[in-house]
Amino acid sequence: MSNLLIINGPNLNRLGEREPGTYGTSTLVQIEARCRRVAEELGCGLDAYQSNAEHEIVERIHQAARDGVACIIINPAAFTHTSVAIRDALLSVTIPFIELHLSNTKAREPFRHHSYLADVARGTIAGFGPIGYELAVRAAADIAADDRS
Ligand code: DQA
Repeated sequence: MSNLLIINGPNLNRLGEREPGTYGTSTLVQIEARCRRVAEELGCGLDAYQSNAEHEIVERIHQAARDGVACIIINPAAFTHTSVAIRDALLSVTIPFIELHLSNTKAREPFRHHSYLADVARGTIAGFGPIGYELAVRAAADIAADDRS
């Protein structure tokens, strides 16, 4: 069974209350529950992690290598636009990863247009709201299956 990991960055613990016009009304707990159901349907295990701290996200990525995670889905939130440390952590573990955003970052303020992860991600899903998480789980299961064969 392939193990998938979803990592959510700062302020995503406030989904549901945080700027619902931009990020939707689903809570992170609801989104994670849907992802677990989709992963189960696809025969994958799924862990979900959220932190507001950059160093904790770096540590969780390192832990993923020790756990043999097959694919990481990451919504780095604001760290997308600032974090060389998270980029380097993902490169250091060589686990394929999908960059994910609820909003279409390219259609927002200019400071959100640049991502430190986009050029090293397998792909990016952005702008579809909470359903993007389910799309990402499906894509991650596919990547994990391909990498096994
Ligand atoms: C976000 C987009 C980021 O620019 C922002 O800082 C977030 C959420 C998204 O999911 O749309 O916190 O990653």
